Amino acid sequence: MNKLNIAVIGLSGIGLTHVRAILANDNTELAGVCASRESSLAKARELAPGVFATTQVEELLQQDGIDAVVVATPDHYHAVHTIAALESGKHVLCEKPMADKLDDCIRMVETAKKAERALFVGQVCRFSPGFLQAKRLLNSGAIGELFFVESEYAHNFDDVGAGKSWRTDPAIGREQMVGGGCHAADIVRMYCGNAVEVQAYSNHKVLKSWSADDTMIGIYKFANGAIGKVFTSGAVRRDYTMRTVLYGSKGSIIVDNKSDHLQLYSKELDTSFMGTPNARHTENYAIAIPTGNNTKNVPEQLAAFVKTVQEGNASVESGQSGANTVAMCTATVEAAKTGQAVTIRNPFPES
Ligand SMILES: NC(=O)c1ccc[n+]([C@@H]2O[C@H](COP(=O)([O-])OP(=O)(O)OC[C@H]3O[C@@H](n4cnc5c(N)ncnc54)[C@H](O)[C@@H]3O)[C@@H](O)[C@H]2O)c1
Repeated sequence: MNKLNIAVIGLSGIGLTHVRAILANDNTELAGVCASRESSLAKARELAPGVFATTQVEELLQQDGIDAVVVATPDHYHAVHTIAALESGKHVLCEKPMADKLDDCIRMVETAKKAERALFVGQVCRFSPGFLQAKRLLNSGAIGELFFVESEYAHNFDDVGAGKSWRTDPAIGREQMVGGGCHAADIVRMYCGNAVEVQAYSNHKVLKSWSADDTMIGIYKFANGAIGKVFTSGAVRRDYTMRTVLYGSKGSIIVDNKSDHLQLYSKELDTSFMGTPNARHTENYAIAIPTGNNTKNVPEQLAAFVKTVQEGNASVESGQSGANTVAMCTATVEAAKTGQAVTIRNPFPES
């Protein structure tokens, strides 16, 4: 099978992580890089000497031999860069959040369908081993029927307000619940499906340089009857962990994206689903199941994107899921601002 030639637009921390993943993958070639900042281009050139590099997105997209593009520019550029890439015939892996506005997400999916190109959204936590293991346990019936799920996106973002950043620019109005909270909302959706209604609260007590509230909590009803919660903050004084808890009729799972194990509490313990000889009982009748966790699963995500494209599949399934996650997050912001419960307008059916 031919290697997939992939270019990357946006070359800061996460963009360079994509570059490294493409360089390390046997099925991909780095076909070009693009960033508005010369300093970003310089770092990419260090990783890939001689690679085609430009500050202009249009120039990159006109290059011959590019099959696909990773869009890793700031959130508010995702729609314009993704749509330009799709319209020039490229498959796209777009960083999370899919876009900062729901209508843009819908346009991105429509453009991909028209262009018959794959649209994949980089909700990388879906590739985190712990979250995947929790999904397998849930599907196996280990905790029975899920009735409550919660997750979080909690960081200490003091430094982001220090200089001028798109993340804190009032003219851009980035909402933490959409920009970062989409990780937690997406994980909750992975377990519970689409949320249908939200109530939310927020405050702004710590990061005064931010234009938006630094802390928000959304409380959800899901189509399947479960309820849930997503907490986001840029102001917490502790490590980033994305602690996620699933409560079911027969047991509970506590899992995050950093620990090398998850905790399974089960009323009716059937060890056959564990699939690992290293699982052990603890005093409180929980099992710690090794997961082999790490926080950056960009290589696994890239492999899934490449597989989709190489199977000749112009799939927009991931794009549709990314749009539903943005719908959940933007409705949460609306609920916090209005003080009213908001019906969530999921643009696509659950896949
Ligand atoms: N998946 C994750 O865990 C994760 C982690 C960090 C960031 N992100 C997402 O990745 C995106 C980038 O975040 P970041 O922290 O790297 O941002 P950043 O501001 O540090 O870097 C943005 C990069 O995009 C380039 N850029 C900006 N505007 C451009 C334009 N108009 N044309 C071409 N290049 C342009 C800049 O030169 C820079 O290289 C955001 O959407 C963010 O939400 C995802």
